[in-house]
Amino acid sequence: MEKIIILDFGSQVTQLIGRRLRELNVYCEIHPFNKAPQLDAEVKGVILSGSPASVRGENAPFVDLGEIKGKLPLLGICYGAQFLAYHYGGMVENSDSREYGRAMMSVKADSPLFEGIPQTSQVWMSHGDTITRLPEGAVVIGSTDDVDNAAYHIEGEETYAVQFHPEVFHSEYGAEMLKNFVVRICGCSCSWTPDSFIETSVAELKSKLGDDKVILGLSGGVDSTVAAVLLNRAIGANLTCIFVDNGLLRKNEFEDVLESYQDMGLNVVGARSGKLFLDALKGVSDPEQKRKAIGKTFIDVFDAEAHKISGAKWLAQGTIYPDVIESCSVNGPSATIKSHHNVGGLPEKMNLKIVEPLRSLFKDEVRRVGRALGIKEELISRHPFPGPSLGIRILGEVTEEKLAILREADAIFINKLKNWPCDLPSASEPGRRASNLYDSIWQAGTMLLPVRSVGVMGDERTYEYTCALRAVISTDGMTADWVHLPYDFLAELSNEIINKVRGVNRVCYDISSKPPATIEWE
Ligand code: XMP
Repeated sequence: MEKIIILDFGSQVTQLIGRRLRELNVYCEIHPFNKAPQLDAEVKGVILSGSPASVRGENAPFVDLGEIKGKLPLLGICYGAQFLAYHYGGMVENSDSREYGRAMMSVKADSPLFEGIPQTSQVWMSHGDTITRLPEGAVVIGSTDDVDNAAYHIEGEETYAVQFHPEVFHSEYGAEMLKNFVVRICGCSCSWTPDSFIETSVAELKSKLGDDKVILGLSGGVDSTVAAVLLNRAIGANLTCIFVDNGLLRKNEFEDVLESYQDMGLNVVGARSGKLFLDALKGVSDPEQKRKAIGKTFIDVFDAEAHKISGAKWLAQGTIYPDVIESCSVNGPSATIKSHHNVGGLPEKMNLKIVEPLRSLFKDEVRRVGRALGIKEELISRHPFPGPSLGIRILGEVTEEKLAILREADAIFINKLKNWPCDLPSASEPGRRASNLYDSIWQAGTMLLPVRSVGVMGDERTYEYTCALRAVISTDGMTADWVHLPYDFLAELSNEIINKVRGVNRVCYDISSKPPATIEWE
């Protein structure tokens, strides 16, 4: 399989280089500069990323390019371009010609990197240092008003460098430049499609797992579902999935999802364990304590179920690429990752080997693979749902009574979103129009507040709960903005909830973005 290696010097936008290449159906891997992989025949080219550091700094990130430069196609971006200049006979200085933001670049010489790109186009700059002298053998291929050496090529080698960031949206022809690099310069065939991914993964899983038994925890979410179907293709009945009913799921969710899984031919054990979770939550109202109680109970239940499956050797997980990059990035594991997102402690406790068939995929690629595997759209475009479920959407202590109220209100909200037409882009499939309001939203849900307030219904005074609705748009859950739901939608919805759900007499809509708020309330 042909691939491009991206060496990460710590730029905020390194992941975007990977995204852009994947959009071109080119397989690529991002590695921290200090953990560069062995280069084999599959590697068609290398990209050096940007960095917040200065090449002149004392602890400037350094990588030995002995096996790469002049031997493989190489593209330096921003810090990468300065790195190539600084270490190969050029000069980098902190000069007056620093640039941040938009700049216009003019092509100065014929180059395969700029094939098909207008003479002048907008690029995105972000640099304090400037390349004041090119490295040995280099010629300028692009300049901006302020920076002469905005792009260069080292003659006699397939080494190119650009001071700007072609990976960001604001570099007008950046995607074309990256395409030129991988296709014209590296010779990639752009054949890495969902179908080819499925074919190679199934073959790899077959040879890796042989006749071993594998256990996988299904959550009803996209990642674990796609992982399960892929594994099922590879090893069939040797895969057993465990779907835990923690008693905190949405209305009819356990039954509906279990049925879809059975329709797909998956071998699923449904573990109804609601009582254990509710017992563990009794009297607990602190959010962190609630999360811990739910997490611990999940591990106990899963472990007990898994032990019923004799001879299992592997635990499959739906880990995806952003989790992998985050946890081994140049800057160390990101502080924004929450340990509770993974079922921490489970693998050690169970003494099983780990298999993660989706660890090279971005979220939208997981969805594309899921579609290519024939998984129902309903499951593929489901909104994310947190592991601790409604347990963290009932603020304060969780009780059966509150769960029943929240399930009803939430079902009305979600159904209405699914039945409300809209003309916006889909949140689950780039480039497609949404089929309804639900599909245009990244995530929506209902919270039950521990607050009761006075109302009047008919001629009677009521004293009931308040629920809060939340709908956000996001790309990865790290940042999010609230959705401008139509007023007539909100008006109908609040009437419906208050009329139909006993126990609620007030509905609010959450208009906080993340940051400073978070998506979940607890
Ligand atoms: P926050 O509340 O941190 O949520 O803004 C960001 C995204 O993560 C989901 N989330 C979780 N997912 N286990 C999960 O699997 C969890 O404990 C958990 N907590 C939050 C949340 O629904 C949103 O999509």
